[in-house]
Amino acid sequence: MTAPILRRLSELRALTAEWRSKGETIGVVPTMGALHRGHLSLVEAAKADTDRVIVTIFVNPKQFNNPEDLAKYPRTENEDAQKLAPFGVDAIYVPEPDEIYPQGFATTVSVAGLTNVMEGEFRPGHFDGVATVVAKLFLQTQADRAYFGEKDYQQLMIVRRMARDLDIPIEVIGCPTVREPSGLAMSSRNLLLSPEGLEVAANKNRIMRELVEALKDGAQFDPLAAQAETDLLAAGFTQVEYVQLRCAETLEPLTHASRPARLFAATWVDGVRLIDNIPV
Ligand code: PAF
Repeated sequence: MTAPILRRLSELRALTAEWRSKGETIGVVPTMGALHRGHLSLVEAAKADTDRVIVTIFVNPKQFNNPEDLAKYPRTENEDAQKLAPFGVDAIYVPEPDEIYPQGFATTVSVAGLTNVMEGEFRPGHFDGVATVVAKLFLQTQADRAYFGEKDYQQLMIVRRMARDLDIPIEVIGCPTVREPSGLAMSSRNLLLSPEGLEVAANKNRIMRELVEALKDGAQFDPLAAQAETDLLAAGFTQVEYVQLRCAETLEPLTHASRPARLFAATWVDGVRLIDNIPV
């Protein structure tokens, strides 16, 4: 059965008040729609952990620094509702834009430090948009737990920091990246790739894993990053924005794998920007 689609905060509040009155716990999976198996794995984790699960779908204009990117972002609400049906989700919250950004909306949630690097550097304002909308979704759903994919690892760290700093009583849970058999990380943006673009994209995870293997042997990162950039371009990526090794806790840059780390890469193919990261 498809879950009820709620477009108004008052409807959402009525439902969550009823659940709360019965002592039920609530999990939320925030999304921008175009759901894929990665999102569905978050829904499964939420279902296993909490009594009630809300999936939110809102293509958040404030996190797009490029209007073209916003315009072409896939919007597939009916298919999304169908995909969620087998999971027994309790509500799909698809807020009208004025429920998130009412007339005169003047507040920005901005997390310092963690947002200056990588995605923050290449997509100015992106994380302010993310932190602002996620803070609103946390407060609107009043969920006990929220589920985010590790594919957007920097986002996960920022959202966790934001919830802690603002005393929002929610546990932010990171779930492993779900991948295609080629290793390509599941992403709504993969829908925008041509068959040739998909073939190119399939090389990324392999190249990243080769780099990680070399790091495990104690190699310095810089020459390996240069080699990985060359390999990515040779595989058909049109641009490599960054290949970086950072501490998994603080996101500080590392010169070698001296402590638990993550390898991050942002690349372009077919006019589509693809990010990925893997643990080291
Ligand atoms: O990861 C996403 O899909 C979005 O950044 C999020 C967390 C739903 C906020 O709009």
